Amino acid sequence: MNRLAGKVVIVTGGATGIGEAISRKFAREGASVVVNGYPEDPVNDVVRDILQESGIASAFAGDVSQESVAMACVQHAVTTYGKLDVLINNAGVFPVMATVENYPIDVFEYLLKNNIRSAFLMTRYAVPELRKTKGCIVSAGSESGFLGLGENAVYGGTKGFMHAFTRGVAVEGAPYGVRANCVCPGGIDTAWTHKETGPMTAKHEQMIIQGTPMGRRGTPEEIANAYLFLASDEASYVTGALFSVDGGITIGKGAVGDEVKKEASEAPAGDLQLHHSMDGATNMLRGREPQLGQKAP
Ligand SMILES: NC(=O)c1ccc[n+]([C@@H]2O[C@H](COP(=O)([O-])OP(=O)(O)OC[C@H]3O[C@@H](n4cnc5c(N)ncnc54)[C@H](O)[C@@H]3O)[C@@H](O)[C@H]2O)c1
Repeated sequence: MNRLAGKVVIVTGGATGIGEAISRKFAREGASVVVNGYPEDPVNDVVRDILQESGIASAFAGDVSQESVAMACVQHAVTTYGKLDVLINNAGVFPVMATVENYPIDVFEYLLKNNIRSAFLMTRYAVPELRKTKGCIVSAGSESGFLGLGENAVYGGTKGFMHAFTRGVAVEGAPYGVRANCVCPGGIDTAWTHKETGPMTAKHEQMIIQGTPMGRRGTPEEIANAYLFLASDEASYVTGALFSVDGGITIGKGAVGDEVKKEASEAPAGDLQLHHSMDGATNMLRGREPQLGQKAP
């Protein structure tokens, strides 16, 4: 329960989906967590859940793709807790699935802003602090960043950026003891992969399950477990890794998910009681409120 004892962590997009699981898991492991998200995200709820479990957390709501907000978010961690040990670049959006000739240009810009610019700015302002603590960065990659996916070429492109960006940052960080890695999930049980809450159709949902050798989506907590390892000192010799946590979808060929035995396809219950797994960013409405960083009282 203490694999991150004494560590100060920022989790961007840390209030919904995978981010909520990372924030909650890291707090249980002893970290002081700055939970970031858009002002519309349930940032304060997640902080409250952590505090109720006697964890340490504070809210920093704001759009970290804006330079002043990214800078203020890093500063908030340092001012509140005295240092920064870990940056989790988890924020991202997924509003549309469409072939490239139909892909709306404003959605393309929205992806660049939230999936790439936010990670670049947060990394840029976190690195000087991480050098002081010999800290690390763990960022959200994706199976789509390796392979490219139909109707998802732009999203996959943003994740391909994250993979190469992370490796460059890892090389630059090594002389200072700073590590950088990516967790690369497959289809995860958040708002993004359900037709009721995200851009996927029933056909896309079926394709994920069939294409995954383990025959199911991953849980947010299963992804948070990988973030935990990479963020902890147990991963002291791991840098520049693109760590697949994808039920095998990257290696699956054809409808391999249909082969899985029923008893082998059940997701573990996990330890976290998550409340916002399905409250993620699946349209372009998020980020419309005033974007100043809002510190917790
Ligand atoms: N769900 C999947 O199947 C899957 C697969 C591979 C990779 N990922 C990656 O995991 C990460 C989390 O995905 P999720 O499914 O949990 O989605 P999610 O929508 O539940 O979480 C993303 C969060 O980031 C926030 N956010 C986006 N841009 C922001 C910004 N500029 N400033 C502050 N907050 C911002 C959103 O509001 C949202 O709360 C993403 O980077 C995604 O690309 C997800």
